[in-house]
Amino acid sequence: MTYENILIICDAGIQTITINRPSKLNALNKATIEELSSALQSAECDNDIRVIILTGSGEKAFVAGADISEFAHFSVEQGKTLSQKGHDDLFNRIDRMETPVIAAVNGFALGGGLELAMSSHIRIFADSARVGLPETSLGVIPGYGGTQRLAQIAGKGRAMQMVLTAEMIDANTALSYGITTKVVPLEELMPTALKMAKKILRNSPMAISTAIKCVNANYSTGVDGLAFEVDAFGKCFGTVDFIEGTTAFLEKRKASF
Ligand code: COA
Repeated sequence: MTYENILIICDAGIQTITINRPSKLNALNKATIEELSSALQSAECDNDIRVIILTGSGEKAFVAGADISEFAHFSVEQGKTLSQKGHDDLFNRIDRMETPVIAAVNGFALGGGLELAMSSHIRIFADSARVGLPETSLGVIPGYGGTQRLAQIAGKGRAMQMVLTAEMIDANTALSYGITTKVVPLEELMPTALKMAKKILRNSPMAISTAIKCVNANYSTGVDGLAFEVDAFGKCFGTVDFIEGTTAFLEKRKASF
């Protein structure tokens, strides 16, 4: 697939995907969602890509939401399909990726933009970031997982407040809510994301993908997360990464995964 709305750079195991519609504040139109979905699908199949960083082009926006101009005249059925396809093709795909995804939020992350960041495994914010779920101000609700993931990440009370008021919060408020784990000056955003990606690169890819599945198990209906962890923990013991990791420790050298 050729990409017109995203830019991709791969370097030493780290793939940076930049959403690139700056004139529309990187709003997620259908084409951009399809391109992101395709790029992530390819990355998942590529063993050389071990960490993905998602960011937005320009200094103003990460993603200012779903493209309002595309769905303003949708019917009930089209609205439902828009949401379901978004979950299936992009937002749940990211959440369930076995390759870790870091969202480097460089500005506005509104509606689908915050939902995209919340689907990612880790979020780092520039101090200029402003985030929110403003859908109720448009007569709709968050439809790309926002009502569920914001409550999981920030707690029910904060999710209710943000969704019902449609308010935007600044980066430090988002930090205090647990929506991001780090706030840095804008110029340090990508270096910080890359530094974090490099830390992840030092660890076992097998253990990382297993850990993502285990943490996610806690949020999967009908799954006993602790039982899932016991099983996954045991399976690590049969792997070359486990042998290398433990042998390297005992031989007082760095593990090579
Ligand atoms: N969908 C479609 N286009 C969008 C968009 C979105 N979610 N967000 C921004 N844009 C477009 C604007 O229409 C404008 O395009 P134009 O120049 O062709 O008119 C361009 O991006 C710049 O946005 P603008 O509103 O002029 O910038 P601003 O600095 O005045 O305001 C925001 C910035 C983020 C506060 C404002 O753009 C906004 O509220 N966007 C919508 C946020 C939203 O409700 N998202 C949830 C969607 S479900």
